[in-house]
Amino acid sequence: MSRHSRPWWRDAVIYQVYPRSFADGDGDGIGDVNGLRDRLPYLRDLGIDAIWLSPWYVSPMADAGYDVADYRDIDPRFGSLAHAEAFLAEAHALDLRVIVDIVPNHCSDRHPAFAAALAAAPGAPERDLFWFRPGRGEHGDQPPNDWRSHFGGPAWTRVDDGDWYLHMFAPEQPDWNWDHPAVRADFETTLRFWLDRGVDGFRIDVADHLVKDPALPDQSTLDPAAIRPWRDQDGVHEIFRSWRAIADTYPQQAVFVGELWEPNADRFTRYLRPDELHTGFNFAFLACPWDALAFRAVIDETLGTHALVGAPATWVLSNHDVVRHVTRYGRADTSHSFAPDAMTQTADLALGTRRARAAALLSLALPGSAYVYQGEELGLPEVQDIAAELLQDPRWLRSGFTDRGRDGCRVPLPWSGTAKPYGFSPDWATADPWLPQPEAWAALSAQAQAGSRPSMLELYRRALHLRRTEPDLGDGTLTWLDGAGPAAHGVLYFRRGDGFACLVNLSAEPVPLPPHGYLLLASDPLQELKVAPDSAVWLRLV
Ligand code: GLC
Repeated sequence: MSRHSRPWWRDAVIYQVYPRSFADGDGDGIGDVNGLRDRLPYLRDLGIDAIWLSPWYVSPMADAGYDVADYRDIDPRFGSLAHAEAFLAEAHALDLRVIVDIVPNHCSDRHPAFAAALAAAPGAPERDLFWFRPGRGEHGDQPPNDWRSHFGGPAWTRVDDGDWYLHMFAPEQPDWNWDHPAVRADFETTLRFWLDRGVDGFRIDVADHLVKDPALPDQSTLDPAAIRPWRDQDGVHEIFRSWRAIADTYPQQAVFVGELWEPNADRFTRYLRPDELHTGFNFAFLACPWDALAFRAVIDETLGTHALVGAPATWVLSNHDVVRHVTRYGRADTSHSFAPDAMTQTADLALGTRRARAAALLSLALPGSAYVYQGEELGLPEVQDIAAELLQDPRWLRSGFTDRGRDGCRVPLPWSGTAKPYGFSPDWATADPWLPQPEAWAALSAQAQAGSRPSMLELYRRALHLRRTEPDLGDGTLTWLDGAGPAAHGVLYFRRGDGFACLVNLSAEPVPLPPHGYLLLASDPLQELKVAPDSAVWLRLV
């Protein structure tokens, strides 16, 4: 099937916008929809196909917008519904699709439904929309079970009348009870609300958590190898089938992408069956260390399991929850981890940047769809020295100030100029960016890199434009090649179709260029016709 006749999402390059850190239009130091509208030409010129926006909904911002108080309106810090509608129209006019985030596992503790549940008495029907339970122990002062919040501490908080409610994340994020028909109906209304406004899809936050084991068993009583009772329960698939049926009634070919931190590839691809989600983030690829054998295993497993359900793979290097890969790839341990010390290990940024350039060519050459997290095209590193008193991620507080959390990958982007805020906010802004930008980012601004051939930005632009013009890239299959010489064990070398090949050298030795027609792109200059360590090339075959 040719590029133009297959569904757009099978090989789209989707750029993640984290709205509060992308571009500030109104000068309050927080990014917003109008700031994003002004930067749409930049995104079009970059060569992406679609934008995924982290939440822009009304929120008290206990978890940077992943605590939603109104799913059908825009937070005033980000703008208004009218701004959002104008943004959608402008993006579409530039041929950019828009995927919005939907957060169905939990809402904000300020959501009207949770406020009503709190105002009602224990046992009242309003409480059935959430997971309210009496406590254990003689006075009910022990949580109903031993589940832990992903942000630290117990997953239960007690309210004044003695009941406890479940929150797998912060206490300000009560979990919805998806066994309740009103919860299902309300989310279907939300899906239609945004589909009616023309969105091209949804990124589903913690998609595997919606359904809980209704017995709420203590985790400690279960076989450690068993599926956790708060996630990946069979009933969740039925929800996504009903969502898919709704999306399929709209003309825009709206797509779902699930956030699924599921280590088991078979369990993962169950979400991607033809009547469920279209795609899911490939976190196995994101987490993979800088090692050729490890990458090859992840790539093979990804392609093999996705083929079983006919879903395209996705290739993800970074997002708003993980240490930026320029930093990750420059460390002694190059894999991803959520462990608290993962936020603080030192890195060789020159090495990490070289590898990130090669990783860009790898991920954009693999079959399927790819994600770019804002700032990755500028080669931004993780900011690891944010002053403790400025940290905002709830993980910092909830971990008892042991886990610095995810703010280091959320620092506002540098756009232009040599002085802070580097064009993130307008010149007349009244406030500093909500997180401080490092001095070194003057050299990494989009303006500083534009037109400079060796820059990360120009590498992404050329790669993304080639991806559009090379007929063998995007959806399809991959064939591994050998013949990359003596260092072949540290090399990833594959063909796409008959005309295109990608070689990534993860070894410590230069690798001779294999026979080819001509060199399309190199992440770093060749060394005497050899591919340097930690670099990649795209080749046109004869
Ligand atoms: C997802 C989001 C993350 C958020 C969490 C709770 O993992 O990506 O940012 O904190 O869900 O909503």
